[in-house]
Amino acid sequence: MPETSLPTNRNSALTSWVADFAALAQPERIHWSDGSDGEFAALTSGMVEKGTMLKLDPVKRPRSFLCRSDPRDVARVESRTFICSRLRSDAGPTNNWVAPVAMHDRLRGLFAGAMRGRTLYVVPFSMGPIGSPIAQIGVQLTDSPYVVASMRIMTRMGKPVLDALGGGDNFVRCLHSVGAPLVDGQADVSWPCNPTEIVIAHFPEERAIWSFGSGYGGNALLGKKCVALRIASVMGRDEGWLAEHMAILGLESPTGERTYVGAAFPSACGKTNFAMMIPPAGFSGWKVRTVGDDIAWIMPGKDGRLRAINPEAGFFGVAPGTNAETNPHAMTTIASDTIFTNVALTDDGDVWWEGMTATPPAHLTDWRGQDWTPSCGRTAAHPNARFTTPVTRCPSLDPLWDDPHGVPISGFIFGGRMSRDMPLVFQSFNWSHGVYCAATMASEATAAADGLPPLRRDPMAMLPFCGYNMADYFSHWLNVGRRVPNPPRIFRVNWFRRGADGRFLWPGFRENARILSWIVDRIHGRGYAVESPLGWMPRHEDLNWEGLDFPRERFHELMSVGRDASAAEVRSHEELFDLFLDRIPKEFLFERELLRSRLWRSPERWELATEQ
Ligand code: GTP
Ligand code: SPV
Ligand code: MN
Repeated sequence: MPETSLPTNRNSALTSWVADFAALAQPERIHWSDGSDGEFAALTSGMVEKGTMLKLDPVKRPRSFLCRSDPRDVARVESRTFICSRLRSDAGPTNNWVAPVAMHDRLRGLFAGAMRGRTLYVVPFSMGPIGSPIAQIGVQLTDSPYVVASMRIMTRMGKPVLDALGGGDNFVRCLHSVGAPLVDGQADVSWPCNPTEIVIAHFPEERAIWSFGSGYGGNALLGKKCVALRIASVMGRDEGWLAEHMAILGLESPTGERTYVGAAFPSACGKTNFAMMIPPAGFSGWKVRTVGDDIAWIMPGKDGRLRAINPEAGFFGVAPGTNAETNPHAMTTIASDTIFTNVALTDDGDVWWEGMTATPPAHLTDWRGQDWTPSCGRTAAHPNARFTTPVTRCPSLDPLWDDPHGVPISGFIFGGRMSRDMPLVFQSFNWSHGVYCAATMASEATAAADGLPPLRRDPMAMLPFCGYNMADYFSHWLNVGRRVPNPPRIFRVNWFRRGADGRFLWPGFRENARILSWIVDRIHGRGYAVESPLGWMPRHEDLNWEGLDFPRERFHELMSVGRDASAAEVRSHEELFDLFLDRIPKEFLFERELLRSRLWRSPERWELATEQ
């Protein structure tokens, strides 16, 4: 029997599950995590001793740490992510699928003895405020102290969660190992992992997750993508709610009126920036209030409105590109109490990444621990370097951010990264048209060496995160809107359109508040718009331009719709739908034909009239 700290309750479902798993993975010790400050301090100092973490300068970056991962373990691995539903058709054509029995066999082989020489941590966590009717409890068993420390920041974690669970067995079972046992006195490495054997398997019917081989981000912090999106989306399907890859934010007027929206942009497309934006000149007295930057759980409330909570308690944000101009509130949030992963280290014990300052320091230690100078030809931080930080020091944090009943949602905004053909903003005609626009969203990978960047359809920004057949997910969305009397308005945005010179046409970042403000006006029935083939669009004079000289012609360039390009786009919607055969909701076929006929009758290049 491994040496064990005592569980703080007598939940037999939990203790016997832990014991069974320990018999398989054979850890040397079992530690029941209480989530206390003392435990966090002990974990981090243990990792500093072992070289997993470096303590940053206590004056420049109080209570903060830097970790360097194995260079082979730096991001989510979609090709090794599986939805193991009983029926293959329930996983759908966009998910990897293996039959549950076969996957269990494979995993039992991988996990057998996987924790030898290590500590198994039992990490109880709540996604959502503890005790909220919307929240879900999970328990993650892991052999990574980095994961335990990160879960403490990203979730409500420890003893209060065990107390809330009591004797119940309604918790998501999350099993995680870095897959690097220490046998025969073998010395440990600073970032143990097993990159060639990574598997992240979800069992939606069992509400269980097994993750092997990786210690990074969404692969390993199982509360985030695995529970709060993949498993929760299945719960939402079964129970009538939505788990979405969305930031939640409110725009607050000078009189204190707050209008909340959910904003779904694919990974690394600007949710964190949008959620914490400081509106520019011309918006004095207006504020953005942050509820969440990555995940939203949305369900009809007693008042018949959709209400949303952020199930997380921290931000796991992309570091490169974050600076005092692009995201001042993020910079304030990460001033202390933050774990940085795969950023560069300055000579005076602080962090740096590409875009943090206009001029890079003359010398750094890069994310792999090697000497770095501006002329060395490598980036100092990994492009997916991230900060893990509690939401509570975010200056724009909404007072209702952890209200157990959530905030009322009045609009949804969907936006990918599109260098051409997709306008800056438009509003859908109605709910089913809006769901169609969201489902057909696409985003570009980073520019290819030559030619046009490859496009990937990313419905609702959920392609890697929907735990069931996406055609059923589309139908579920249509139904959720039908069950509330006045469903949220749906908008598409695109901050990333480029001009003929290859440069962004739109300044973005805080200037996006001008678009958000028009969206809020439309929601309240006071903003003006004209009809286009794609949806309702603002004219130049319908936006607040105070403090920004943005020429009308440039705006028209940003908003124009090319008939032939859009017709080609509609043909590729067909390709997406063909994947799902007859499971696609029939509303989508009608929406597609309506869009096609609107385009067919439009001029070759549809442009906003200069005067109206
Ligand atoms: P995940 O955490 O991966 O889900 O992503 P996220 O959507 O929160 O991404 P994040 O906000 O961290 O996006 C970072 C990237 O988006 C950086 O490359 C930013 O420079 C870029 N970005 C954010 N907002 C804008 C904008 O308004 N315009 C432009 N051009 N780029 C933006
Ligand atoms: C994303 O990829 O959308 C993220 C980062 O938010 S991770 O948690 O690693 O999936
Ligand atoms: Mn994300």
